[in-house]
Amino acid sequence: MSHFELTAQLEREEYRILNAIEVSMRKFEWVPMKNITFYSRLDAERVQFWLDKVHKRDLILRHSGGLKNEGYALNSKGYDLLAARALAEEDVVLSIGNSLGVGKESDVYQGIGPGDEFLALKFHRIGRTSFRNIKAKRDYVAGKFHTSWLYMSRVSATREAGHLKRLNEVGADVPVLRGHNRHVVVMKQYDGQEIQEFDDVDDAQGVFEQVVRNVKKCYQEARLIHCDLCEYNIIYTRDKHVVIIDWPQAVATDHPNARLLLRRDVENVCRYFGRLGVEADPDAVTAEITGPGAGHAFKGAPREC
Ligand SMILES: Nc1ncnc2c1ncn2[C@@H]1O[C@H](COP(=O)(O)OP(=O)(O)O)[C@@H](O)[C@H]1O
Ligand SMILES: [Mg+2]
Repeated sequence: MSHFELTAQLEREEYRILNAIEVSMRKFEWVPMKNITFYSRLDAERVQFWLDKVHKRDLILRHSGGLKNEGYALNSKGYDLLAARALAEEDVVLSIGNSLGVGKESDVYQGIGPGDEFLALKFHRIGRTSFRNIKAKRDYVAGKFHTSWLYMSRVSATREAGHLKRLNEVGADVPVLRGHNRHVVVMKQYDGQEIQEFDDVDDAQGVFEQVVRNVKKCYQEARLIHCDLCEYNIIYTRDKHVVIIDWPQAVATDHPNARLLLRRDVENVCRYFGRLGVEADPDAVTAEITGPGAGHAFKGAPREC
């Protein structure tokens, strides 16, 4: 199983060390020992002992590149554990289990929440690809990279959580948000698969209409455009519902490129459903989404002017 088993094993002092490094990483590429001592409020003689311990657990990176650049930085595992612990303390998540999926910029794990609810925990990992490429030069660049990895991953998760909240309020078919901490978004888990995994879909026309109705709701009521809508970001559930996932990059409908971005989403959806035999004109669908009121585009009725 994953590194989350460690969440329960870590001692209070180890979390203090991780926290102290996290705080100081706002200012330092490599956090000097004296800052860790200051922020952890641990006995100065004991700091090295606890630092070695978290280093052995592979939760931090140590850099010893000359006096000026000597110090420590969190790695993604250390950051994961800080978030996991905070979510556990808030009673949002009771336990974390297997991987549900590895995206380009995320790792999604299954979790259990209060009332035995199944959860999906999305750990944002912005810049991970570049991290892999620079592993060999780790000591030299990892700190710098990691500062921005941390920051960008947190920003991405915060944005996604904000969008989901807004979309939940209007009742769109998107994941129900259960919590958020640092770079992690906690949602309800849906029992289904990305729609691209299906060779064939019963009633493709009906599913397509569900998607468009939702895009319209998001646009008109939450004033949001997804901006990465495609068959990989639509879950089709066992009970035949669509859930539109993956919202960090969404933009408001007053974005200068809103029309273009919406149009691209619509084209992706039309292209995918076209392969399943659904005939749809992206112009008409875009007009339906941006048009006034609850439309009747699928009911055969002519649209009013
Ligand atoms: N709420 C959820 N319920 C079930 N599976 C999910 C959920 N959210 C994400 N997943 C799974 O994790 C994968 C990656 O999530 P996604 O939000 O698309 O992240 P990425 O930006 O990395 O593509 C999805 O394709 C899906 O298989
Ligand atoms: Mg995705």
